[in-house]
Order: sequence, then structure tokens, then C-alpha cells
Amino acid sequence: MAKLKTLYFCQNCGAQSAKWIGRCPSCGEWNTYVEEVIQKEETTANNAWKASTSVGTTSKAARPRVISDIVFEEEPRIRTQDGELDRVLGGGLVPGSLVLIGGEPGIGKSTLMLQIAMTLRQLKVLYVSGEESEQQIKMRAERLGEQHPNCYILTETNTQNIFKQIDQLQPNVVVVDSIQTLHSGLVESGAGSVSQVRECTQELLKYAKETGTPVLLIGHITKDGSIAGPKILEHMVDTVLQFEGDRHLSYRILRTIKNRFGSTSELGIYEMQGTGLRQVSNPSEILLSQRTESLSGMAIGATLEGNRPLLVEVQALVTPATYGTPQRSSTGFDAKRLNMLLAVLEKRSGLRLGQHDVFLNIAGGLRLDDPALDLAVCAAVVSSLNDLPIRGEICLAAEVGLSGEIRAVSRLDQRLSEAEKLGFAEMYISHFNARGLDMSRYGIRVQPAGRLDEVLQGLF
Ligand code: TYD
Ligand code: MG
Repeated sequence: MAKLKTLYFCQNCGAQSAKWIGRCPSCGEWNTYVEEVIQKEETTANNAWKASTSVGTTSKAARPRVISDIVFEEEPRIRTQDGELDRVLGGGLVPGSLVLIGGEPGIGKSTLMLQIAMTLRQLKVLYVSGEESEQQIKMRAERLGEQHPNCYILTETNTQNIFKQIDQLQPNVVVVDSIQTLHSGLVESGAGSVSQVRECTQELLKYAKETGTPVLLIGHITKDGSIAGPKILEHMVDTVLQFEGDRHLSYRILRTIKNRFGSTSELGIYEMQGTGLRQVSNPSEILLSQRTESLSGMAIGATLEGNRPLLVEVQALVTPATYGTPQRSSTGFDAKRLNMLLAVLEKRSGLRLGQHDVFLNIAGGLRLDDPALDLAVCAAVVSSLNDLPIRGEICLAAEVGLSGEIRAVSRLDQRLSEAEKLGFAEMYISHFNARGLDMSRYGIRVQPAGRLDEVLQGLF
């Protein structure tokens, strides 16, 4: 028997090595190398998609072309009937694209995909599931309501068999639930391992590109929220969407993390109901419904988490100190930065905070270090100190400097779009940010300010 060839793969970034190493030289993580059996010959040479179909392998040889000679044609898009999904995809499904949808278990990825598969009425859709049986899928489909005659279900995990069925059926759209359950006969390690995930994605990618069929892939995510499997999975696909939400609430958010065919600042919102996911066309209802109007000590900051815009509620409680040294406590926001902001408020705005305890909390258990939250923190503190609420439709995004000046923040356009989408009417920003801003693009009013005092005057 031929000796099995094994390689070590970094479970974090997918780098490979012939021997085990403690620290990955490519991503710097410790203890991430795992041994995996790979096939005896090079896998890429005989890709399953090629092997199982008659599609020619003679892709025409590319020649260099002058950029001005290349004619740009707008990609035709497949509208999915689901406005939220179309929006996060940048206007619909692009033929030949590979879309990865990640999310925690039970958040509703399978439900969303089945729902999409059943609404694409004019197209032949193949829903491949390695997670559930036909019966389970049927049961779910019953809950979702009307079933369309052109939606096929295949419960199979071997990619060679899947491609054989695809070849016969010739679907227009393929959904795969999930990439971690697939396995290719060309690689010997178990389903879900780095080399399997990479090989299966490669095969699907090749299939998608050669036939122009869009493929929607479901992917699991790990404890820390990243998509399970090698990071290269995200590099290989065209679009990465993340489906997230609080388990205890029925709202779900679909975010674009990467998109080769559109912007990544888009966000779609759904509500999980007994009969599937409902599109939420007026998202402000979520944020606003969780807030009780007219409470002091609350301010909304427009922040960015990674490159995702997010509106968060900053809560402050300022009470007279009963013991000698006043307490300062901060959850989700840097305590040193809070102290600095309190000093600025004391010195530049003349507020007496020296005899008060200050507690600060970022709602929702988030930890944020975006300086753009400074202004919201100051506003929340002043609101609590004076017991004056801030109007619900106001949000803030600016850094506060040591002399009480309001400083510009990065990517204001994203923050503005997000705030507008979530139904806010007014945003306080730095006047440096306001320069050259084309306000006709946004349906939200900006209040440019140069000094902290001006903002506080405007708010209260
Ligand atoms: P599912 O799509 O199976 O999640 P994932 O594929 O991300 O693991 O989500 C199932 C959850 O959604 C389950 O807890 C039940 C709930 N659900 C509804 O509330 N209403 C519905 O109509 C359906 C189909 C599921
Ligand atoms: Mg599922």
C-alpha cells in the first residue's frame, strides 16, 4: 500500500508545512497546526468538477490587453425577490459568483436559504443539504408556506456525486448547506478539515465560474465569530455575508463582510417568525423599540466595528459620591479614556464631576474602542448629570480632543448611511468632517460643531 502523504495545516490561516511547527510563520498564531492526510497526487490537477463533467478544459489562453480596450459591461443580476438579500449583495445575485453565508448555529441560515430557494420562481434551484434529511427540509418548507415546483432538494455530501446530479439537472442556482459537511474524494482527510473545505470550495468555485451559475454556500462560524475553516475560504469566495442576531430576540441582521460586486456597508434586517423570516423594511423599529423614550443618561453613538458601521447606545449614570473618592466604572469602553473625557468636561465645560460617581456602559455587551464614541459618551454623562434626556432621533459621531475641540472621524459616509437606514434624523459631527460633504446624498441632517460646548447647547 502506498504510504499516505500527510501535511500540516494551520487551522487559522490555512498555511501548510511538511512538519509540525508551534507557531505559524504566516499568521503568527500558536499551536494551530494539525496533521491532515492528503491524496497521493496533487489535487488541483484533476478537480472533481472537471472530472465529472464534459465541460472542456481548454479555457482560452488569456492575453494581455490595453485597459482602455476592455469594454465594461454591467453584470446582469438575478433579483431574488428578497429586498434585503438583494441589497446586501449589491443589487442581486451575480451569475457565476460564490457567496458564503456565515452565522451561529440556529440563527436561521438554512431557513433563509430555503426561503430564497423557494422564492426564485422562474429559476431551477438545487438545494444541496448535508445537514438535514429530506423529511426535515420538507417539514421546514411546509412552515415556510407555498412551495415552488422548480426547487430540487439533494441530500448528499460527496462533491463528485453532487456534480453528477448538477450535470443532469442543470440548475440555475445552487445552494449548499453547509461547506463543512462536504467532502471530496480527491482529498482523504475528514469533512470539515482545512484541506477538505479548501478543496470543496475550489471545486464549487470552478463550477460557478465555468458555468456562470451562482452558488450560495452556508458556513459555520467558530466561538470567536469567524467563519470556521481556513481564512482562505473567505479569500476564495466573491462575497461573504454574516447572519447574526441575539438568540433571545427575534431580529436577525445580514451583513456584508466582503463583496467583490458591491459595497460592504450594506445591511439587511429580518424578523424570525413562526412562518420563516420576514423582511424588515423599516429597521429603526428595532433600535427604537428597545429604547424607552425620554430617559436621561442615554446617547446613541455611530461607531464602526472593524469596517461595519453600528449604532450603539451609550448609557451613563452620574450620582453624587457618598464616599470619599468618587467611583468611575466603565463597561465596554476604555476606562482611561472615560477619565480623560470627564476631565475635559470638568475643565472645558465647567461641569462639577469631581464629587460624582460615574458609571458608563455600552449596551448590548459590546466592547468598543472607536474614538468616534467620545462625543456620545460626553453627551450621555451630561444628560445623566443634569437629568435631561436627549431626543431619540439624535446620534453622535466625533472624537473629543483635550481642549474640548470636536475632531473629525473616519468614514463618516458609512456612519451617516447607517444612521439614516436606522431611522435617525440628526447627527452631530465635527465641522472638519462637514467640509466637502455632499449632504444631498443623505436623508439625515448634520449638525457640525467645533467645540464641545456647542454640542451640549444644541442637545439640551
Ligand atoms: P436554522 O435555519 O435551522 O438555523 P441554522 O441553519 O443557522 O443553524 O434555524 C432554525 C431556528 O429558527 C430554529 O430555532 C427554529 C426557528 N424557526 C422559526 O422560528 N420559524 C420558522 O419558520 C423556521 C423554519 C425556523
Ligand atoms: Mg442549518
